[in-house]
Amino acid sequence: MTVLADSALAQLIDGKQIAAAVRAEVKAAVDARLADGKRRPALRVVLVGDNPASQSYVRGKKRAGEEVGIDAETLLYPADLPQDELLAVIDQLNKDPEVDGILVQLPLPDHVDEEQVILAIDPAKDVDGFHPVSVGRLALGQSGFEPCTPAGIVEMLQRCGIETSGRDAVIVGRSNIVGRPMASLLLRRGLDATVTVCHSRTHDLPAHTRRADILIAAIGRPNFITADMVKPGAAVIDVGINRVDDATRERGYRLVGDVDFEAVREVAGWITPVPGGVGPMTIAMLLQNTLRAADARA
Ligand code: GUN
Repeated sequence: MTVLADSALAQLIDGKQIAAAVRAEVKAAVDARLADGKRRPALRVVLVGDNPASQSYVRGKKRAGEEVGIDAETLLYPADLPQDELLAVIDQLNKDPEVDGILVQLPLPDHVDEEQVILAIDPAKDVDGFHPVSVGRLALGQSGFEPCTPAGIVEMLQRCGIETSGRDAVIVGRSNIVGRPMASLLLRRGLDATVTVCHSRTHDLPAHTRRADILIAAIGRPNFITADMVKPGAAVIDVGINRVDDATRERGYRLVGDVDFEAVREVAGWITPVPGGVGPMTIAMLLQNTLRAADARA
């Protein structure tokens, strides 16, 4: 009985393992640059304020950068940093010939206009892929910096041999960081998915999600995607990282995704866990973008 039940479970998409493979490739390329007498790719991560989740992400980015030989430095500023001072910091990083990639961690404090800040980043150093030039190139099917989370999802699908061409991909969430660029990427020649983007105003969401061969959940609501919303055999990609209170944990919370993992894994063909799914891929792709930025500038 147990064996039968287990064999019916979805295959796990191991983001940790795939991200480690990507990081190893980046490290090999960085080593080759150094052997060629070139300098280390340099990434500057700008963090304004003390949002705990942002602090944790930024620490992870710096650690991963160092591990692959990227010169990764975090620039920390207080939450009340005036916008013009933040713009001056970005201007300096733009002009610094030793800096290849600039990442401003989002969200920014309320008094700062996020759009203005992203617009200030030199598109040649936009390793986050958030600048309108990067977004426009992606939407036009041109090559450029791809936002790290959607790029990491594509990398996972490809390395698991999950076909996208002609298949129905349904994205739940229309954020600038995930949903919208994910749609552009999956539409691109070579990936060729049929893409639907759903959001909070979508009528009869389950009718859409149940048609998905590839279902991407980027809503930010714990356990939102339930088993009845998933087509049997579908690949389910969970972008959510939600903190839910948990008194049994030392830190007082645990991380859960947007997908009801335990129930959905009984229906899906493939599924990403949280943590250990999309999260590590986002960081790995940032390192890859930083390497590309350095190579392109040389
Ligand atoms: N906040 C949440 N995800 C991201 C990301 O990928 N990049 C930046 N800059 N901020 C984020």
